[in-house]
Amino acid sequence: MTPVINKSNRSLMRTIAHDRHGEADEVLHLREQSPPPAPDAAQVRVRVLSRPIHPGDLAGVEGGPDARRRLAGPRVPGLEGMGVVDALGEGVRHLRPGQRVAFFPVPGAWSDVLTAPAGLVVPVPEHVSDETAALMLVNPITLLTLLRAVEEAQHDQPGPVIQTAAGSSVGKLVGAAAVKHGIPLVNLVRSATGARTLRQRFPELPAISTADTDWRAQVREATGGRRPLVALDAVGGSLSGEFAGLLDDGGTLITYGRLGSGSTPLESLPLMRRALTVRGVSIERWMTRTPEERAEDVAFATRLAATAPDLFEVAARYDLAEFPKAVDHVRRTGKSGTVLLTSPPS
Ligand SMILES: NC(=O)c1ccc[n+]([C@@H]2O[C@H](COP(=O)([O-])OP(=O)(O)OC[C@H]3O[C@@H](n4cnc5c(N)ncnc54)[C@H](OP(=O)(O)O)[C@@H]3O)[C@@H](O)[C@H]2O)c1
Repeated sequence: MTPVINKSNRSLMRTIAHDRHGEADEVLHLREQSPPPAPDAAQVRVRVLSRPIHPGDLAGVEGGPDARRRLAGPRVPGLEGMGVVDALGEGVRHLRPGQRVAFFPVPGAWSDVLTAPAGLVVPVPEHVSDETAALMLVNPITLLTLLRAVEEAQHDQPGPVIQTAAGSSVGKLVGAAAVKHGIPLVNLVRSATGARTLRQRFPELPAISTADTDWRAQVREATGGRRPLVALDAVGGSLSGEFAGLLDDGGTLITYGRLGSGSTPLESLPLMRRALTVRGVSIERWMTRTPEERAEDVAFATRLAATAPDLFEVAARYDLAEFPKAVDHVRRTGKSGTVLLTSPPS
């Protein structure tokens, strides 16, 4: 990662980009370029103040197994963030210049300035801080997506649910929702320290470390011997078989992340014999919901940001130019919360 920056030229904006897929440390670079031109009628130009680095952003930089290594042109990561309205298209009525706004999904969030379709830009409520606003859309919308998938997988037979990577930012939102709605959730994490921290956070919910040799027995004990019908899994890789193995017959493994390593061949899962389902869930599909449904989801996220800011924990903040350190922090074991990249207020 090679920062290339001329601090003296203030008419240029900074942006982080990559020209090929690969390890973030190797392919990301900071560059300067002219800010985007005046927005079109239905667009908003936003001076971005803060944006998260989600694990999914780094996965997007790496590219999936079938991604072409070289991109057609420079790609700027990041789909979420918050900032201040810098300029408005003539057709935009629900915003005003200078207003604090959040946006998702708008490609190029890792830039000082971006242009967004007005429909994807929402005002930030007065009492929501800039840092909370920077995080207020992706994870709550992921939570809603996961809860809908759980409901569909349970077929009106509510019962125990297990989730992996339960100490993640998304995992803690799921934990809070489980406590609120009385979902019998069992939290799985990869270390004893993580389990202890999570038990302090959610004393109502069992938290089990998969580093314990008897963790499967602990799960059975926590569910009173009932096998869960649903597993929410952000780890996957070589552990998918383990998580699927805990499910009741007819159960569903909901996969939504790839934090783990290795892989599990589909044929090794007892899919047919035990009538198991593996279901992928991604926020990338959110735009297929109707505008009314998306507006409801955004209203939920905004309410959550206003009423429960503790659910939007920030692990650390780094200036955009310090992105190598920020990326490094995202990968730290035991990190709690989300890392933000910031730009100066003006
Ligand atoms: N599909 C979607 O639409 C969608 C949307 C949002 C997020 N996600 C996924 O949800 C997951 C969590 O995201 P986040 O932003 O909430 O993460 P986060 O706050 O950065 O937390 C990452 C967590 O993952 C745990 N972890 C990392 N590697 C692990 C491994 N190999 N085995 C077990 N646990 C591991 C860490 O545990 P330690 O404390 O032990 O280090 C940490 O608690 C990610 O996979 C992300 O890609 C998916």
